[in-house]
Amino acid sequence: MSAVLEVHDLEKSFGAVVAAHDIDVVVEEGETIGVIGANGAGKTTFVNLVTGHLPPGRGTVEFMGRSILGLSVRAIARMGLCRSFQVPQVFLSETVFDNLMMAFGVAEEDGAGLLTPLRADPRADRVEAHLARYQIAEYRDVTGSALPQGIRKLLDIAMATVRKPRLLMLDEPTSGISAEEKFAIMDILMQALKEERATVLLIEHDMEIVERYVDRVLAFYQGRIICDAPTTQALRDEGVREYVLGRERAAAPEPPSPPPRRSGSGDVTLAVSDLDVSISAAPILRGVHLDVPSGSMCGLIGRNGAGKTTFMRAVMGTLSILRGKVRLGDIDLTATPAHRRAHMGIGFMPEDRRLVPDLTAEENILLPVWATGADNARDRLEWIYGLMPEVAEFRDRGATTLSGGQQKFVAFARALMCGTRLLLLDEPGEGIAPIFAQRMVEILDDLKKEGASVLVAESNDVHVAGLLDRTFVIERGSIVEGG
Ligand SMILES: Nc1ncnc2c1ncn2[C@@H]1O[C@H](COP(=O)(O)OP(=O)(O)OP(=O)(O)O)[C@@H](O)[C@H]1O
Ligand SMILES: [Mg+2]
Repeated sequence: MSAVLEVHDLEKSFGAVVAAHDIDVVVEEGETIGVIGANGAGKTTFVNLVTGHLPPGRGTVEFMGRSILGLSVRAIARMGLCRSFQVPQVFLSETVFDNLMMAFGVAEEDGAGLLTPLRADPRADRVEAHLARYQIAEYRDVTGSALPQGIRKLLDIAMATVRKPRLLMLDEPTSGISAEEKFAIMDILMQALKEERATVLLIEHDMEIVERYVDRVLAFYQGRIICDAPTTQALRDEGVREYVLGRERAAAPEPPSPPPRRSGSGDVTLAVSDLDVSISAAPILRGVHLDVPSGSMCGLIGRNGAGKTTFMRAVMGTLSILRGKVRLGDIDLTATPAHRRAHMGIGFMPEDRRLVPDLTAEENILLPVWATGADNARDRLEWIYGLMPEVAEFRDRGATTLSGGQQKFVAFARALMCGTRLLLLDEPGEGIAPIFAQRMVEILDDLKKEGASVLVAESNDVHVAGLLDRTFVIERGSIVEGG
């Protein structure tokens, strides 16, 4: 074996935040390495530094025996060190075939491929081989926007491998993929990467994936590597258990008491009946019945593409409904414009965070009350910081400087800001490290004790299962259990 990547003394700070400290890593050819760590531990920063997306403060990085410090992202990728991103980078308006065609075009850097009629191009053969290798040929004519999340991830990674990388770094390849599908997707992926002869480094929060596919683990904590060991050993390591996996739940401290609720928020229920929703004429939800009784925590559980996000968006009024009733207490939501939801005390955490990049974390959290002008905004903000002290710590940071998981917490806090009557949370645990997933559950437990009315969508019910008063199982747009 020979070293593909050698990193020594790597350092990076963002103001007071040390995101990489004293990083030493040697990656041997053919290894599969898992990078784990709490949210904000420095995993993505490490990948950014090595792949040329960020300049390090200090240190050395050698790839295939050559220093690559200071080289551009493109030059590094051309040498065979490639990556994928936390959020898939596929073109949503293009088909799978054309996405790959463009990726090959860019990789070959002649640009001509972007102009010639695509299907007459000689590159089409390579695209076909790629489609077969990643088992996505049946989706060739489907646009990126219509792909199931798992397939979109496969396409994204297939696009990242058009350059035949020697070392491929994947940032959370399984986030957003449901429990039923994740092993199938990973099997295809790991097989394809083996055929490509790529050495693989993957950032992963899911320890089942780490155990099954990874030879060696690098565990990050506050910008340092606290453990570098074979997988089984690493997962038993004291430090890893303490700072990444989280030990058994300690006795939870008493939650802070919430500020008084707004008047009129008495006996509230979300009542949805006979709901039909279509997107571009394709029926997505069919005859959905779902009630959230006041003060209860309900789960909407189903795999990706089952219709969970569509349901949430229909309740939020950002998708128009074909038929059915949606009521909040005695208010008819179908007759209420979307922007009034915040005024009515509905808080929504979208799956994809959607923070405003130019604002700080706190400004993002306050955003809904800027619109509604709620009078007790400060009290509520303090209450939220009491529930989530981790968010208070980065309240003044710009949204784009936060790690993926930190952004997720901000989106959650923003939903709490106006969600005095009803909280709709779309996959709150996605992309969250085990130790923080535990925190999410604790926060939800605190909210439950306070009598909040909550609907949580999860593709994988392990996180919140113990908290749910009711579970609705959704399959292909219909509630098949619990309705
Ligand atoms: N551009 C930036 N400016 C300021 N701080 C940053 C910037 N990028 C990252 N950070 C901070 O550096 C630390 C490490 O972030 P990083 O994105 O590497 O975490 P991560 O381990 O990938 O977390 P996650 O699992 O949540 O994605 C975090 O505290 C983050 O807020
Ligand atoms: Mg990250």
